[in-house]
Amino acid sequence: MGPLKARRAKGVRPPVLLYICLLTALMAVAPSAAADDDRNWLPTGSSTEIQSDPPSELLRLDTIRDDKWLYGRLLFRSPSLLGEKAVRIGLSCNSCHPNGHANTDFFITGLSDRPGRIDVTHRFWQAEFEDGISNPIDIPSLRGVRDTPPYGTINLFADLHAFTRHVIVTEFAGPPPPFEKVEALVAYLNSIDNNELGKDQSNVQTGTDMSYLSLLHAPLENKDEAKLDELTDLIRSELGRQASRPHAMIGAIQHTVKGLRKINEKAAEQDYTAAIKIHQKLMSDQ
Ligand code: HEC
Repeated sequence: MGPLKARRAKGVRPPVLLYICLLTALMAVAPSAAADDDRNWLPTGSSTEIQSDPPSELLRLDTIRDDKWLYGRLLFRSPSLLGEKAVRIGLSCNSCHPNGHANTDFFITGLSDRPGRIDVTHRFWQAEFEDGISNPIDIPSLRGVRDTPPYGTINLFADLHAFTRHVIVTEFAGPPPPFEKVEALVAYLNSIDNNELGKDQSNVQTGTDMSYLSLLHAPLENKDEAKLDELTDLIRSELGRQASRPHAMIGAIQHTVKGLRKINEKAAEQDYTAAIKIHQKLMSDQ
């Protein structure tokens, strides 16, 4: 028995070693492969970030900032809504329409003829929708968009619900959004004002950063773990974007991210009393 065991153990050793060597080699290769991949996704010379200070976010004074609106604002800033390509390059509605206005610096090599213009019917986004012609168009501002139907340039849509769905599914190859998401986005779009700030006191300007923690209240009360997971994911990635900006309050952001993780852990253990307590503490820390 003894020698057999020893022989077996010996016999096992080389493949394990080989495996470890392979793994190490793979790990060494992986980062550069990923970098090459990223370059392939976004051609060199492209710029999807706004170069100057973002434009003001003008909101109608009668905007009710309820959960639906807040969720819409969060989705507007999240790449998760659009297709895989957009996710890979971190593209959200807000990349092209920062704070509901227009990104005049936006440029993707091969899809833009000059900054602020983009071909939304290019196979870069998805093969089926290629119209065979290069037709970059101006990225429009969404200020006052609720008052300017019909929507779109190439295809016209009578209302914002239909157009928003078209943008997500057809232009950017995203998964068909549930009605609740479209409703929320439209609530946000409807709140974007077109009056110049202070001209007639009809609107307010908000900062780019806003807390979305209040959105967790309902799913915590309802013990809705799926919704809770979806929202904490969205909030965490929004915090990630906020952390990458200059002068970000990194400490406060880390504190919130840690709290969100604890909320998820407690909810997974079905300990909603503890999860609610952590949530309340996070809210009061702000
Ligand atoms: C890559 C840049 C880009 C992204 C990302 C983008 N848009 Fe647009 N958007 C455009 C361009 C270009 C147009 C004009 C072309 C068109 O009408 O199809 C437009 C038009 C619109 C319009 C119609 C404006 C009008 O007055 O007709 C709305 C509303 C809109 N976008 C909302 C959104 C929403 C909501 C998202 C996210 C789900 C989004 N956009 C993502 C570039 C973008």
